[in-house]
Amino acid sequence: MSTSTTLYGGAVHRRVTILDLRAAKERGEKWAMLTSYEQMTAAIFDEAGIPVLLVGDSAGNNFLGEENTIPVTVDELIPLTRAVVRGSKRALVVADLPFGSYESSPEQALATSSRFFKEAGAMAVKLEGAHLATVEKLTAAGIPVMGHLGLTPQSLHQLGGYRVQGRTDGDAIVEAAIALEKAGAFAIVLELVPADLASRISKVLTVPTIGIGAGTDCDAQVLVWTDMAGLTANPPKLAKAYRNLRKELMGAAQEFAEEVRSGKFPTESQTFH
Ligand code: KIV
Repeated sequence: MSTSTTLYGGAVHRRVTILDLRAAKERGEKWAMLTSYEQMTAAIFDEAGIPVLLVGDSAGNNFLGEENTIPVTVDELIPLTRAVVRGSKRALVVADLPFGSYESSPEQALATSSRFFKEAGAMAVKLEGAHLATVEKLTAAGIPVMGHLGLTPQSLHQLGGYRVQGRTDGDAIVEAAIALEKAGAFAIVLELVPADLASRISKVLTVPTIGIGAGTDCDAQVLVWTDMAGLTANPPKLAKAYRNLRKELMGAAQEFAEEVRSGKFPTESQTFH
């Protein structure tokens, strides 16, 4: 079994681990994380060399047609996670713990995370906020935990909307990040925080930070895949569309419909005799 000196390069014939991510930070190697909600994109992103796939609760608004992430349930995310694990060969697959499935107690979080591990094959979980006792409990049980600070969308109503966090209380976010690392988190997502704050946190932590709307100095960057591919109708300012898949799919569907109407499809090559 060979390993590579970079997360992207070489012939890595095994799954990326949390140790690889920490080593990448030590080397100063930046990496990308994408969300994925089913096996096709999981296989494509895996082949593209994306080392970490997040089955985000953003499946709520990007896959399941919900208005936001809050309604998403464990029962909905488990089959999506299983599909992403099946579709990928190399990526570390992280399952997001949905709202209401972990906040009551460390025991509740362990029971939920165990379902993601046993029923879906997840290799780590992500949870929002500084639930330190929970992170300790999960890591002690062998479950790697990714933290998530700054804008935590499950607290949308408490925060008063999708607003930049840490402009006035940046120190509290730095302290929470340090506490999460001490509790055992292997990486921390920083969402919608000022770039200088994210930079400060990235320097102070030994585990990687993963930015989304958090400037250039994070150790990694994450995007919701539908934003990255230009499929989302109204993408947020923090996203960059690398293609216009919305236009491509629209064109393909319109062309198909037109060819059916005009009798151009099917042709002889799609016909059986
Ligand atoms: O659910 C999600 O997609 C996320 C990322 C934006 C980090 O939490």
